[in-house]
Amino acid sequence: MSLGKIIDNKHNALSKRIDKQKVPEHVAIIMDGNGRWATNKRLPRKYGHKRGVDVLKEILKASKKLGCKVLTVYAFSTENWTRPTEEVDFLINLFSEVLRNEIEEIHEESTKIKFIGDLNPFPETLKKIISSSESLTKNNNKFLLNVCVNYGGRQEIVKVAKELALKSSSGEIKPSEVNEELFNSELLTRGIKDPELLIRTSGEKRISNFLLWQLAYSEIYISDVLWPDFNEFEFLKAIIDYQSRNR
Ligand code: FPP
Repeated sequence: MSLGKIIDNKHNALSKRIDKQKVPEHVAIIMDGNGRWATNKRLPRKYGHKRGVDVLKEILKASKKLGCKVLTVYAFSTENWTRPTEEVDFLINLFSEVLRNEIEEIHEESTKIKFIGDLNPFPETLKKIISSSESLTKNNNKFLLNVCVNYGGRQEIVKVAKELALKSSSGEIKPSEVNEELFNSELLTRGIKDPELLIRTSGEKRISNFLLWQLAYSEIYISDVLWPDFNEFEFLKAIIDYQSRNR
């Protein structure tokens, strides 16, 4: 039997184990390990990020095929600014390039794309392309792709607290009215169901300031595979593991 056939068989066997009635609606992913993947291959880190984009495209397809409705990925954290300027600039250019190349297809597939985080520090070119991509796809309703950039969970919570404090001091709300529902309504993810599953690749077992409020009840799946080597097969493994948990 050819190697391709063996892989297909393994894939099919895994697909059959998935309970279509228990597919998570919202999956969040910390795409970790791009740099290490490249370094292991004696390549500059940027090759890991480039390859990471291909993997993201594969996982987006796989999650749609499975019946998920929302994918939220961590593309750039508030801490990522401390990386060498060359890498930061590369990532910023990569975001623009990916949007330019992929937005037509994203739109044709009725996927809505949303960027979550403080976009202010990014260059105008990126901000413009983000804004045009969001407005082009804003009425799409088959799938939602949230891309977290310059995002930090604590920063988001502080922003909500400030917003509610302002509303309280102006008399718009009473302090006694502050509850989880009101707090939710001020989050950057307002209106979106919390993720049932968080996947982190590369074996790291941290949340790293990602969606701190929204992940309160999520199942966590850690994959030892580095993000550039992650694929549909590994994604199906994460889903099967999730389905084995008692929720
Ligand atoms: C983590 O690996 C990965 C990132 C910081 C960047 C991920 C970004 C993409 C895959 C591009 C996505 C683009 C769009 C438009 C959605 P790392 O560099 O932290 O790896 P390391 O831990 O091995 O150093």
